[in-house]
Amino acid sequence: MEKKFKRTLVTCALPYANGPVHIGHLAGVYVPADIYVRYLRLRGEDVLYVCGSDEHGVPITIKARQQGCSPQDIVDKYHKIIDGSFKALGINFDIYGRTSSKVHEKNAAQFFRKLYDEGKFVTRESEQYYDPEAKTFLADRYIVGTCPKCGNEGAYGDQCEKCGSTLSPEELINPHSRLSGAEPVKRKTTHWYLPLQDYEGWLREWILEGHKEWRSNVYGQVKSWLDGGLQPRAVTRDLDWGVPVPVEGAEGKVLYVWFDAPIGYISNTMELLPDSWEKWWKSPDTKLVHFIGKDNIVFHCIVFPAMLKAYGDGFILPENVPANEFLNLEGDKISTSRGWAVWAHEYVQDFPGKEDVLRYVLTANAPETKDNDFSWKEFQTRNNSELVAIFGNFVNRAVVLTHKYFEGRVPAAGELAEVDRETLAEVPALRESLEKNIENYRFREALKDAMQIARLGNKYISDSEPWKVAKTDMARTGTILNVCLQLCADLAIAFEPFTPFACERLRRMLNLNRPTARGKGPVCGPQGAASTGIASPETCAGPAVTEEGQDRLPEKVAGSASSVCWDSLGAADILPEGHQLGEAELLFEKIDDAAIQKQLDRLAEIRAQKEAEAKAELAKHVTPQKEECTFDDFGKMDIRTATVLEAERVPKTDKLLKLTIDTGIDRRVIVSGIAEYYTPEDMVGRQICILANLKPRVIKGIESKGMILMARQNDGTMRFITPQETVVNGAEIG
Ligand code: MF3
Ligand code: ZN
Repeated sequence: MEKKFKRTLVTCALPYANGPVHIGHLAGVYVPADIYVRYLRLRGEDVLYVCGSDEHGVPITIKARQQGCSPQDIVDKYHKIIDGSFKALGINFDIYGRTSSKVHEKNAAQFFRKLYDEGKFVTRESEQYYDPEAKTFLADRYIVGTCPKCGNEGAYGDQCEKCGSTLSPEELINPHSRLSGAEPVKRKTTHWYLPLQDYEGWLREWILEGHKEWRSNVYGQVKSWLDGGLQPRAVTRDLDWGVPVPVEGAEGKVLYVWFDAPIGYISNTMELLPDSWEKWWKSPDTKLVHFIGKDNIVFHCIVFPAMLKAYGDGFILPENVPANEFLNLEGDKISTSRGWAVWAHEYVQDFPGKEDVLRYVLTANAPETKDNDFSWKEFQTRNNSELVAIFGNFVNRAVVLTHKYFEGRVPAAGELAEVDRETLAEVPALRESLEKNIENYRFREALKDAMQIARLGNKYISDSEPWKVAKTDMARTGTILNVCLQLCADLAIAFEPFTPFACERLRRMLNLNRPTARGKGPVCGPQGAASTGIASPETCAGPAVTEEGQDRLPEKVAGSASSVCWDSLGAADILPEGHQLGEAELLFEKIDDAAIQKQLDRLAEIRAQKEAEAKAELAKHVTPQKEECTFDDFGKMDIRTATVLEAERVPKTDKLLKLTIDTGIDRRVIVSGIAEYYTPEDMVGRQICILANLKPRVIKGIESKGMILMARQNDGTMRFITPQETVVNGAEIG
């Protein structure tokens, strides 16, 4: 049986304030959460929408060091950028807080202290790396050395970014501190741990038994963690950036970022609602939903719930954790450090007025069940052939024709034909499907349902051809346009969670008020009143509100506006006869090839740069010089030029080519291990260099006389040596 709740608390993963947010973050977390919140508000639910910057953790301290500023400078900078880009995209949290705030510091410290006082932690002594020159413990990230797997000299103590292997500092060859360059030494240190294993049985029951409805990616990850056996988790670190551990004798220690950050959800709620935050966190009538990316699953489904359970005091647990998979960009993994991303703050600058397009594309292509790819071509296609050609085109025809034939007033419906009734009758079913999909966190499907209304309208107007009917039958034209306008009003409601800016424009065209949760018009049923006092749908359901609290798109239309609410969706008379429309305007605009090419060029540049860096990196790693040799030693070698006459693969081998060559002195066969790098066709006719007097060997039954000179690059790949200009065969090299 589904539980009924009185209110919903929606949290979004707190983004790290060490870089801007990109489309992967948006698609994975913030756009779906925003759709969910807007939808619930339209339905009159009492919702609180909480997010903020995650401002602690080692990467922030590293970035600060690199840039020669303080960690606080870094988080100040990115907090502002991130906050601004969310607002610009219409993602309006009730609070976008920060974990460097006073409220949070106090709250996180208090949280720790209570668990500490109640003996919920265990302490453990361990050996950690310590920088004897900088006199500080070193996080794994602060140790660099040579990767044992690929030889990269810049591998970190936790990971080699070149080959992607997960490492521990012990595995690094020649480890040294990034702070001082000194060789780290091991030192004893004591930390507090949350004994997660004690919560295993309870977690199993709560999630594996009680939440089988969770997304399979989430459920599966939880199950495999639990089946693998839980271990105590350190909740403190030796670091000087973070919330100080509020215990005597813990100097130089801070709360681990993954301990303090989720508490940030609570702190931010407290900051916003100092007197009533508890109702959001401690009432069984509150439904808590965490929107996160898949890399956050363990923290939100295991660690944070265990923390809350340990704390007790009535804290509620999430009802669902709809985690998304990852979004790739043009076929490659998004990488902040390599700049392989589309940044939210840059997008809103490059595509002003097209915030909805990004929201739409990221939803249509959301990585809900598997990783997905974002491509600029698809972005363009979805805009031009879906938003513009279907949704925009339909609305435009309906509104323009109403102005043309009826002076912008909604014509009488008259008697409906069968096709009219059938068309209108499809909307309630689509609405029901849309509702189910959103309520079950299937936003892609929900968007399809909304889009289906536009497709329906577009087909209806094309088939009914009111522009032709108008020549003979004005009453019938009026009926058709009436039906079209009702569908336009449906769209203005149904798309509000997805494309709020366009809906604002559409409402202006239709002279409709922002949909309210509480029914005002005749078709609006009674709705529960919002009780937060801050989350009233009239102020929160719409697009970005500027600093001054003014609507970005003021609604100014002659005549009185009509009121609608979610329950109007699917009604046949949302817009009454005689209702005055506003001016027609473009709902969506085409995106031309040049704008797309600009983005592709930028990415191509990053790719080229990456390749150049990889080459430069290779060049750094040439093998050291060999032992000295004499001129005589060298003179023993007969090195000459030759030309390949024939080439074929040696059967049943992957690596060998049999080459017949002209050495100037003879025609002979050499078997060479170059088939991994060259095909037989590559080789025929090419001039090469050989060691002619190498003692013949029989390889796979073929006598090989001599050896082809190859350059072996440090990644192991080989290239044959060829004279810059063609020379005679048999020319001696030396
Ligand atoms: N900053 C983390 C990330 O980007 C998310 C933190 S979510 C919280 O992966 F719950 F810890 F706040
Ligand atoms: Zn490596």
